[in-house]
Amino acid sequence: MTAAVDEALAAIAGATTSAELKQVRIAHTGDASVIATANAAIKSLPKDQRADAGKLVGQAKGRVFQAISARQEELAAAEEEAKLAEETVDVTAVRPRRKRGAKHPLKTLEDRIVDVFVGMGWEIAEGPEIEAEWFNFDALNFDADHPARQMQDTFYIAAPEGADGASGGARGTSSGQILRTHTSPVQVRSLLERGVPLYIACPGRVFRTDEIDATHSPVFTQVEGLAIDKGLTMAHLVGTLESFAAALFGGAPITRLRPNYFPFTEPSAEMDFRCFHCDARLGLDHDADPGCRVCGGTGWIEMGGCGMVNPAVLRSAGIDPTEYQGFAFGLGIERILMLRNGVEDMRDMVEGDVRFSQHYGTEI
Ligand code: PHE
Repeated sequence: MTAAVDEALAAIAGATTSAELKQVRIAHTGDASVIATANAAIKSLPKDQRADAGKLVGQAKGRVFQAISARQEELAAAEEEAKLAEETVDVTAVRPRRKRGAKHPLKTLEDRIVDVFVGMGWEIAEGPEIEAEWFNFDALNFDADHPARQMQDTFYIAAPEGADGASGGARGTSSGQILRTHTSPVQVRSLLERGVPLYIACPGRVFRTDEIDATHSPVFTQVEGLAIDKGLTMAHLVGTLESFAAALFGGAPITRLRPNYFPFTEPSAEMDFRCFHCDARLGLDHDADPGCRVCGGTGWIEMGGCGMVNPAVLRSAGIDPTEYQGFAFGLGIERILMLRNGVEDMRDMVEGDVRFSQHYGTEI
């Protein structure tokens, strides 16, 4: 018995984890152990020996269990300590710093432009970049064979149902899908969704199959404006453009419209703002600087297209053009950033080098 107890005590002392101690407990106190066997054998002893044997086994059990619980306490404390040490957080450790990003200046400018319209009480509207051909072209009164639909201008995603894909002619009126070539489809979407009267500015990315170079990119940004109400005229268009020009460039705004053609406006015009950079900004009686990098000496900066919304567009959106009229315009944001901030190469805007953006700081 003493040998069995000594052996158990040695094993208990030798256990280095609670799991090991559990095994030791099973081995030395479990059913198959010497102690348990001795305990079970007591009842088969002659009566007069049972009391002594019981005492002996009881003491042995007592010593072993006491040793187990003492060791258990020791091990639990050590394990707790080890766990705490392992989980210690070194609050003084120096971590590699994550480089800060920067808001892209195009986004900053877009926000600024949109804010000008919000300030006039207009709403913001957005549409999908993957657009139905119908919204991008048909609803905007583009002929089925308008050159802008050709593969060299438009990124086609899916041909209209039933179209012969092999011929490459994704024509037809409805279900073809493209990357939108301008933000004008948002005009029709918004008319259908929001109804009239409607005053909206629609910023967003547009796509054309241009090669990237210093002045072109296959992805660029436009802000569309659309105002539809009773009795709107071209004078309202000019007034809106002039307050926009004043808000963006400051000073006395001077704008000029030159006749142009868009299928979705009639009449249509190209809008020019008086150069905000050289002497031309002082008024029509001042000449532009011949070497001005912004206007190239012409005194005028081309800002985009505009016009009175074609009645056909209103009809596509289910609106009666004899009751409601309005105007629309589209501005190219990259161009404005290039002129306003002297960015000389379009590629700087799309390459995603954070140093380019950081250079602009944060404009709020
Ligand atoms: N959507 C035209 C373009 O991308 C611009 C435009 C918008 C013209 C609204 C007239 C009216 O070139």
